[in-house]
Amino acid sequence: MLLCANWKMNLSAKEAAEFINTYARSLVPSSVPTVILAPFTAIPAVAEAVKTSALPRERLAFGAQNLYFESFGAFTGEVSATMLLELGCQYAVCGHSERRQIFGETDEIVGKKVIRCVETGLTPIFCIGETLDERKAGNVEIVLKRQLDVGLSRLTEDQFSKLVVAYEPVWAIGTGVVATPEQAQDAHHFIRHRLKAMCGETAKRIHVLYGGSVNPQNVESLMGQPDIDGALVGGASLKVDSLLALHSGCSKVNTAKLKR
Ligand code: PGA
Repeated sequence: MLLCANWKMNLSAKEAAEFINTYARSLVPSSVPTVILAPFTAIPAVAEAVKTSALPRERLAFGAQNLYFESFGAFTGEVSATMLLELGCQYAVCGHSERRQIFGETDEIVGKKVIRCVETGLTPIFCIGETLDERKAGNVEIVLKRQLDVGLSRLTEDQFSKLVVAYEPVWAIGTGVVATPEQAQDAHHFIRHRLKAMCGETAKRIHVLYGGSVNPQNVESLMGQPDIDGALVGGASLKVDSLLALHSGCSKVNTAKLKR
């Protein structure tokens, strides 16, 4: 299981450092890593604070919320995978719905980001999910299949083992309207099935996260679902106490799952 904090365009470098210092001091030992996905400008401060905490990467890691798929060149405003690796990032989010909707990222563009991550050694957190209209039209599986097929088309079977997938129904992101555990499980089950068709047994090793209005109150019922392997959290990850509560919820469920 994996707990990912997507800070979006929040927290200055100074605030990020303070956050990590406090979080790391209170984090109880557990097999659930926390991954901080910080704004680009806060990544060096996060890296420094993580280093100071002396926590191993298996407990506290960090990454970026986006990257560009080219290695270098005339791409004003963009940041490459190697630039992120230089700062110590292990993860990068690819194709968050806000990138798709506000910044026009297509499945094709997202797919190029995913392969770039894998080829350079960053773990992509590949986001997919349907809009409310698509759900109402009964097209959830059609949309997820397209996003998976196009977004992962460049990966070899082996490379799938480097992947994290996040199912984030667009209608649940930042809205306070969380998917029910059953709705989330149904989508995750479909995703797992599709991944299996794409990469065989490797699919079992892929973490499939749920995201969209996860909070300390609902985290355990969501994480308890058989095909949900972690959370990608926006709003509720911005306060130390809330992220600690999410972490403790994930750890509790993970321990129970491991015993099964
Ligand atoms: P939210 O955001 O938790 O604020 O709904 C989740 C996300 O966008 O990753």
